[in-house]
Amino acid sequence: MIAFPRYIILWVLACLVLSCESDPCNDATVYELDLPAGFPAMPVPEGNELTQARITLGKQLFYDKRLSRDGQIACASCHLQELAFTDGEAVSIGAQGRTGFRNAPSLANVGYHPYLFREGGGISLETQVLGPLEDSTEMAFNMLEAVNRLKEFPEYQAQAEQAYDQEFSAFVLTRALGAFQRTLISGESAYDQYLYAGAVLDSAAIRGAILFNGDKAQCSSCHSGFNYTDYSFQNIGLYDEYSDLGRARVSLDLADIGKFKVPSLRNVALTAPYMHDGSIQRLEQIIEHYDHGGQGHINQNPAIVPLGLSTDEKADLLAFLESLSDLNFISKPEFGPE
Ligand code: HEC
Ligand code: HEC
Repeated sequence: MIAFPRYIILWVLACLVLSCESDPCNDATVYELDLPAGFPAMPVPEGNELTQARITLGKQLFYDKRLSRDGQIACASCHLQELAFTDGEAVSIGAQGRTGFRNAPSLANVGYHPYLFREGGGISLETQVLGPLEDSTEMAFNMLEAVNRLKEFPEYQAQAEQAYDQEFSAFVLTRALGAFQRTLISGESAYDQYLYAGAVLDSAAIRGAILFNGDKAQCSSCHSGFNYTDYSFQNIGLYDEYSDLGRARVSLDLADIGKFKVPSLRNVALTAPYMHDGSIQRLEQIIEHYDHGGQGHINQNPAIVPLGLSTDEKADLLAFLESLSDLNFISKPEFGPE
């Protein structure tokens, strides 16, 4: 056996430790999400454990317009940080100005969703990428061409090697986007600060929270838990006839017509317009909708009935919904383009 002098061993160790302080080495270590109070552990698929290298690559891809056929549209064109990763449009406008048929949902806490899209047709953040990338009304590209285009850039090659130990590929592209999106965690609203950090909250918002969770309004029967959704599919009687069939598009079951995934209400004051089709502009109008009890669609959930809310109660509910905005989330540089 070759005996190395002790100083050489120490020198090698010191180099390892020091070089790990600059990023290349640390990049491969597992990145621990900093979860807010009340948040459970996030499920992360095997083989795509979070590392800084993967997250950094995913963020670059998220903001890269070269991912669309005409080079005009990035993921971030429809999921803007300052709007809690929505786009402010009723339905999204994609490549060549073509309009889609759905409202872009917020990506806050999207890593917790058991399935994606408003009808639940997306299985994971990794496979979901094919949706917008190949949709003619979104990025109008295809995976093979997108990968061929991006692998020409040496910095993407180098990052792919570093993050996934392989060449830039569809595997790398989809996984890195998934890794970045799992970091989009929002749990520092005024209401969270009140619940978990003893901050003062406006009394109207507190009364609104009690109403939201109580038997009279029953909002929390669907908008439950830390993310204000139970992820079920529900028909809230928006229409008596739905042009978008919702859940029935994938289940092919008539009983699912007009059912959509219950949206999270975090940051809801920042994400107008609302509903699967962006048909409601203001939160006040949503409260009116629930107070009226819906249009009576045959699949309408029985909890949607006239509520008999007073003017004050409506104002309280609104104050509560407004207290769910997380201003830190929409301004954090980690989530922004640079
Ligand atoms: C042209 C606008 C547009 C672009 C570009 C776009 N999206 Fe979206 N995104 C939407 C719309 C609209 C939906 C809702 C679709 C649906 O439910 O059918 C959506 C849904 C999603 C969802 C599901 C969220 C949920 O709550 O279920 C994720 C995740 C997502 N997009 C990520 C991305 C990523 C990653 C990219 C880039 C590869 C991207 N989007 C590009 C408009 C866009
Ligand atoms: C039966 C389940 C259910 C109940 C009860 C319920 N909601 Fe909803 N809520 C939904 C679903 C599903 C949607 C999305 C519908 C769509 O996309 O067409 C929604 C949408 C919303 C939105 C719009 C969110 C967005 O981003 O588009 C708000 C705000 C909202 N609900 C607040 C409330 C309030 C306040 C109450 C109580 C008065 C309530 N909800 C009761 C299921 C429910």
